[in-house]
Parts: sequence; structure tokens; C-alpha cells
Amino acid sequence: MRRIQFAVMIASGLVALWGAGNPASGPGREVFEKRCTGCHSLDGVKVGPPLRGIFGRRAAAYGSFPYSAALQKSALTWNEATLERWLTDPESLVPDNDMAFRMSRAEERTAIIEYLKQLSEKPARPPSGAARGNR
Ligand code: HEC
Repeated sequence: MRRIQFAVMIASGLVALWGAGNPASGPGREVFEKRCTGCHSLDGVKVGPPLRGIFGRRAAAYGSFPYSAALQKSALTWNEATLERWLTDPESLVPDNDMAFRMSRAEERTAIIEYLKQLSEKPARPPSGAARGNR
């Protein structure tokens, strides 16, 4: 009996580790869905601008979104450091911005930044050959 419990423990530990190495399916995605999707989606405009590909992009660069003047003038580029400060306290990074939200838990910020980074590194592309020849 004991032995089986132990084996189950090891197996679920491995699953957790695997998840940690794959942010697009790991904790970052869950935290993102819990904390960000009330205002953001990955690909469409909601209360906030879409966030797919945000990592490495300049702030306020999504064409059709009505950004605050403050964010437009910020001249920031989103990377680990700027996202960390933005999620900790947007107001101290860009006074008068429009994102009324903060994340106080460092591990949640780290997980989300990893997730956003992964989404930027691997842009969603149709499998080769698909969606061609229809234009
Ligand atoms: C209460 C609504 C709300 C929540 C919740 C929220 N945001 Fe935002 N977010 C906004 C708004 C509004 C803006 C536009 C800010 C501006 O124009 O000043 C924004 C802007 C941003 C930007 C800058 C986008 C760009 O194109 O420069 C990032 C990055 C961002 N949010 C990340 C997040 C993440 C990650 C979360 C979850 C942890 C989150 N936001 C949660 C409303 C929200």
C-alpha cells in the first residue's frame, strides 16, 4: 500500500516539474486566466489591450487600443524588469496610466511574465501549408 502511495507522489511531482518547464501550459497560464482575463485577452481588445506578443514589444503599440496618454509617452519596452514593476505597481512605473490593478505576490508575477515571454517566443502560426492558397 505504502509503496503505491509513494509512486503516486513521485508521479505527481514529475507532472508538477514538467508544468514548471512549460509556462504555456503551467502555472503562469492559470494565474493569467484568473487574474488578467477579466480585462485582457490574448488576441482581442477588452478593457485592456491584447497581450499575445507583448514581451519585447514597446508599450502602447497595439494600434486600435485607446491607451492613456501616460502610457503612450512612457517609451517603455516590455521585458522582465518593466513587466515586474508594472504588475507590482503600474502607478509608480507610469503615473496616470489606466490599469487599475496590482499583483502583490512575487511568484504570481514571475509565473505570468514567464507565460507572456513564452507566448512571444513562439508565435502561433498555422501548420505549414495550412491556410495558404485561399487568397
Ligand atoms: C482592471 C482591469 C485590468 C486588469 C485586471 C489587468 N489589466 Fe493590464 N491593462 C489594463 C488597461 C486599461 C491597460 C491600458 C493602460 C493604459 O493605457 O494606460 C492595461 C495595460 C497592460 C499592459 C500594457 C500593454 C501595452 O500594449 O503596452 C500590460 C503588459 C498589462 N496590462 C498586463 C496585465 C497583466 C499581465 C495582468 C494580469 C496580471 C493585467 N494586465 C491585469 C487593464 C487591466
